[in-house]
Order: sequence, then structure tokens, then C-alpha cells
Amino acid sequence: MLTVNLAGRVALVTGAGRGIGKAIARALCESGAKVAVNDINPDSAHQTVEELGERTRAYVADVGNLDAVQSLVEQITAELGRIDILVNNAGIEYKTNVLTTPVDEWQRTLDVNLSAAFFTSQATGPIMRAQGGGVIVNIASIAGHNIPLPDRASYVASKAGLIGFTRECAREFAAYNIRVNAICPGVIETEMTAESRSNQDQIEKWLADIPQGRLGQPDDISGLVLYLCSDAAAYLTGQAINVDGGKVML
Ligand SMILES: NC(=O)c1ccc[n+]([C@@H]2O[C@H](COP(=O)([O-])OP(=O)(O)OC[C@H]3O[C@@H](n4cnc5c(N)ncnc54)[C@H](O)[C@@H]3O)[C@@H](O)[C@H]2O)c1
Repeated sequence: MLTVNLAGRVALVTGAGRGIGKAIARALCESGAKVAVNDINPDSAHQTVEELGERTRAYVADVGNLDAVQSLVEQITAELGRIDILVNNAGIEYKTNVLTTPVDEWQRTLDVNLSAAFFTSQATGPIMRAQGGGVIVNIASIAGHNIPLPDRASYVASKAGLIGFTRECAREFAAYNIRVNAICPGVIETEMTAESRSNQDQIEKWLADIPQGRLGQPDDISGLVLYLCSDAAAYLTGQAINVDGGKVML
């Protein structure tokens, strides 16, 4: 894992109760940052904190809800004093297509996968600006690069929106020394993909399309988060970077 010194920084990672978010929280914590571990699921948020130790604190909140995000950010600044790094990782998916997606599922996907990044960026932007800068990383998906997936209507739309929002936010926040980038994972081995991964035919279909010949691991994503948080990435903003073993080459 990359060595980056984040001592003195405070990071908020949403959806850090398991999977990619948990790996990101661990990497930031091991690099010296204090980490606010957010999740909608109290058990998994507390479990992450128990595993990662004293530099982490659990914050249970639904980031798809504006009021909840405002309270979350107020609570973190009151308790941890600042916010330097924001990782919008929380995400959900429903396996339905355009004709079968109920409106409430469509709306919920947009709330959690897209609006949450707007809510958190709007709440933390002024804090980072007052501190002299910051870093925002949005976990999108290769599915957001206009690569339709079967039966993922709301998910694909939300991730394409998140990439667009990342660029808009990067342009606006550059004046405040806040860098904003998106990471677009390919298929990563987490709970989100567990059901599909239980089908060997599906795995073989994926692998046939991945030049590096393996599925991704959560730490394939956390390494890039560390790099984006470091000064080595000082001139990098407004990008959507694929981490997918070469599946998509844009
Ligand atoms: N796993 C993959 O193959 C893959 C690929 C591309 C993109 N992604 C994206 O990476 C991110 C993390 O995915 P993962 O595979 O770790 O998923 P996961 O389902 O394993 O974990 C997601 C976490 O987010 C939390 N969460 C869900 N809704 C929330 C909300 N409203 N507020 C706060 N927390 C909430 C869940 O409780 C869970 O702990 C997601 O945005 C996902 O879309 C994953």
C-alpha cells in the first residue's frame, strides 16, 4: 500500500461499514488521518470502528437525506474539529430495467448515489474553503461512462450523474484549493456483487472482458484514494479514473 502521511487530517467516508468504504477508511486511518466512519447500518458502522481503532468514530446517518447530512457534518466538525477529506462512497443498486423500475426505487437510487454527494459537498465545501483546501473523492462506476449494464437503469443513470457532478464541483471548488475527482471501479469483490459472483458463468463472462484477468479487490480502490489525497496529486482535479483491470479503455 502507498505510504502517505495524513496525520492531522480528518476524513469523512460514507458507507464505510463494509466493502470498498471500509477498505478506504482503513487505508486513511493507517495513513494517520482521523476517520468519521459513516453508514446507514449502525452495526456495521460500529464494527468498522471496533476493527480500526481509536482514530475512527462511528456516525450513523442516511446520506440520501439532506437534514441527516447537515446534522452529520455539524456533529463531525463539533467532535473532530475539521473535515479535510470527503469520500462519497455509499451506494445502492436495484436490479431493474427502464420498464420495470418503480419510481420510488429510481428516486432512492438517485438520492443515495447522486444527491448525497451534492449534500455532503455543499455542507463540507465551506468548511474546506475556510481551512484553505481539501479533497473530495466520489466513488462512481465504469457503468457511469455510458456503459449500460443489463437491468441497472437507475444505477447507471445515478453514476453518470455523479461523474458530471464531480466535474462541475471540481471546476467551482478549484478556486478554494479543493480538488474533486471520481473513481470508477470495475467489478470489485464485495457484498454488492456477491449474488452475481455466485454464478460461475457470470464470473467467466466478466473475466473474458478484463485484460488483467481478475476481479478487483477493495484495496485496488483505496490505494487510488490515498494517492488522490496526497500532495503527489496536487494538479489532478475533475477526473473520472477507471480502476477496472483494463476492462474499459477510454
Ligand atoms: N462492488 C463493485 O463491483 C462496485 C463497482 C463499481 C462501483 N461501486 C461503488 O462503490 C461503492 C461501494 O460499493 P460496495 O461494493 O462496497 O457496496 P456494499 O453494498 O458492499 O457497501 C455499501 C455500504 O454503503 C452503506 N449505505 C447504503 N446506503 C447508505 C446510505 N443511504 N447512507 C449511508 N450508508 C449507506 C451500506 O450499508 C454498506 O455498508 C458504491 O457507491 C458502489 O456503487 C462498486
